[in-house]
Amino acid sequence: MAARRCLCVSQTPRIDTHFVHFVTAVFEIVYTSLATRDLGAAELTALLDQARRANQARGITGMMMYRKREFLQLLEGERAQVEALYERIARDDRHQQMAKIWDGPIQERSCGEWEMAFLAPDDASLQSRPGYRDLMDRGLIAASGDSVGKKLLLNLRDDFLGGR
Ligand SMILES: Cc1cc2nc3c(=O)[nH]c(=O)nc-3n(C[C@H](O)[C@H](O)[C@H](O)COP(=O)(O)O)c2cc1C
Repeated sequence: MAARRCLCVSQTPRIDTHFVHFVTAVFEIVYTSLATRDLGAAELTALLDQARRANQARGITGMMMYRKREFLQLLEGERAQVEALYERIARDDRHQQMAKIWDGPIQERSCGEWEMAFLAPDDASLQSRPGYRDLMDRGLIAASGDSVGKKLLLNLRDDFLGGR
């Protein structure tokens, strides 16, 4: 059988961004913060619209929860992009007391299909599911302490966004 010839491409190959996301190491940051004031639906929608457009352009995916002025957000993507975004978010005066819960490399994205999934569950929907007592009693920031934040986010993802 004839040996397969190598196909040589002379011009710069077109890069498929989805493929790049798949093969490069993924980095994630999970943090909590407190809104400087109670953000209304219109403000949150505007924030998310802008964030999703920018995240798509930078290959960043993730998830954000907002409840009673408290944020919990997971950012995932190429390390330099995620760290640069975290620095930009830290300068945003819509929130304060930003606290990084966890950062590090991960095997695969937890929220790969969302440029920024958003969750703002009301008390009734939290009450109707097991496992959110602490979140309801102590609030999002306190309940997210240490490594629990990521676990909490993933539970919320599975319960409210229908898994991956
Ligand atoms: C809680 C919170 C989360 C945010 N998440 C994102 C995000 O995921 N992606 C993004 O591009 N901007 C996000 N932003 C907005 C950024 O802080 C910033 O306004 C935006 O990146 C534009 O920055 P620039 O004006 O320096 O270009 C977020 C802001 C807040 C308050």
